[in-house]
Amino acid sequence: MSELNKNIAVVVGAGGGIGAAVCRRLSASGHEVVSCDIDGERARKAIEGLEGGHHFMGFDVSSESEVSRAFTNIETNIGPIRVVVVAAGLLLFEDNGDRPLIKHTTLDLWEKTFEVNTKGVFLCAREYINLRERRPVGDGRFITFGSVAAQLGGYRSSASYIAAKAAVMGFTKALAREVADMGITENSVSPGLIDTEMLRNTVRSSGNMDAAAANIPLGRIGTADDVAVSVDFLASREAGYITGSVIDVNGGYRMQ
Ligand SMILES: NC(=O)c1ccc[n+]([C@@H]2O[C@H](COP(=O)([O-])OP(=O)(O)OC[C@H]3O[C@@H](n4cnc5c(N)ncnc54)[C@H](O)[C@@H]3O)[C@@H](O)[C@H]2O)c1
Repeated sequence: MSELNKNIAVVVGAGGGIGAAVCRRLSASGHEVVSCDIDGERARKAIEGLEGGHHFMGFDVSSESEVSRAFTNIETNIGPIRVVVVAAGLLLFEDNGDRPLIKHTTLDLWEKTFEVNTKGVFLCAREYINLRERRPVGDGRFITFGSVAAQLGGYRSSASYIAAKAAVMGFTKALAREVADMGITENSVSPGLIDTEMLRNTVRSSGNMDAAAANIPLGRIGTADDVAVSVDFLASREAGYITGSVIDVNGGYRMQ
């Protein structure tokens, strides 16, 4: 197969509940997946047992040098990246497990939250654009993660997380404009309450899952696969006329 016909999808944060489900969906729809996470072992597990030749890699999405090295490595040794999904996310709590109120938020917590959730997206996007300018691919796709917390002000998360995710949703639009003439689309998926480690940590500090589900019109917490389906659609060549958008996957928790 010619290099440019490869269908390579890089998933960052692939070791998480949603990231792993995205790897499974993208593999099933014919992508060659590069599963990446700060925890290389989690990245490996995310592609374990999937059919086809996939790859895994450990790097920190908030490190400029590590992101640059990883993208260059993928591009050189695997092939041109068509799809990037940045699912890495970080929601920090106080030492006692409480949600940090603004009045108790340390600068360190604020900065770490932005490092992963926002800076990480920017670093991946910049690498991707530069690589694609040098070697264009048809139907490029860049997919980010917002959050219903950023849209509603958040009941269980932190102000730093809400602000960091709101920044991602704004960045999505700026990026969509900048890469449109390269044939690349850029969209964000905004999950509601999805059953992963991240949600279980927030619910532990604020009540139980049933209480969390009570205000969701579809009557249940979402699954990682509910989200992965949307990512897979956005990554598809058929979704080529959608850009700069935020797709809500929240069971009706927030209706626009
Ligand atoms: N689960 C939810 O209810 C929910 C709701 C709204 C938005 N989101 C967003 O969806 C995305 C996926 O969330 P999830 O529920 O799968 O979370 P998760 O906590 O299960 O997984 C997050 C993954 O990101 C990885 N990661 C953390 N820091 C990293 C770094 N510096 N570099 C590389 N990888 C790093 C973690 O190791 C982990 O594997 C996140 O962006 C999250 O903010 C989740």
